[in-house]
Amino acid sequence: MKEPKIITIDGPAGAGKSTVAKEIAKRFGYVHLDSGALYRAIGYFCKLKGVNLTKKEEVLGAIKNINVELLPNGRVLLNGKDVTKEIRTPEGGVLASQVAQFPEVREFVVKLLREMAVGKKIVIDGRDAGTYIFPEADLKIYLTAFPEERARRRYKELKEKGFNVTFEEVLKEVIERDKKDESREFAPLKVPEGAVIVDTTGKSLEEVLKTISNLINN
Ligand code: DC
Repeated sequence: MKEPKIITIDGPAGAGKSTVAKEIAKRFGYVHLDSGALYRAIGYFCKLKGVNLTKKEEVLGAIKNINVELLPNGRVLLNGKDVTKEIRTPEGGVLASQVAQFPEVREFVVKLLREMAVGKKIVIDGRDAGTYIFPEADLKIYLTAFPEERARRRYKELKEKGFNVTFEEVLKEVIERDKKDESREFAPLKVPEGAVIVDTTGKSLEEVLKTISNLINN
């Protein structure tokens, strides 16, 4: 295969998509687009503004005043302010998943991502990157792992960041978020047609990167 211009990495919460996408971007010279960061920034903005997330009109009103930027160094700017740390909380994931239910919010995000990708080699991670955002992608990967393993990784990451959570809470959150992301009507999480499924259960980051590097090089 000639070098892919667009690589998509989809999968459930905690499968390691962002870490893998970031590393692939670094090693192969791609721009990394973290689509979850956009939903997280929108969810966070709505919360700051006291928006009722179950009311679509309120959420759509709020996103008219939103500007999100993904910087090459991985930082996320919300209306010019760095919110990278604030959006990466367990609550940030839940808020993101809530606003991501609305088709209009998804269209807003997809438009932004498509604009960001123009003229670049990109690796994008998310839930619908290969099914809806870039169905024309040259290489589609579906990264997954057993829920317990994904929760274990998340738990470790959150503990390292100083969050006061239990493993049971993280596991419950991971399972609930998967259910929500898989069952929504518009652009749900599913394995894209033609995707290569990479199960990361019991595998190290380097092993996963090797598998994906082989797919890029072949
Ligand atoms: O990948 P993440 O944990 O940062 O994503 C947070 C939430 O955002 C996820 O639970 C669902 C939503 N999301 C989505 O609906 N579509 C995407 N392409 C990326 C994220």
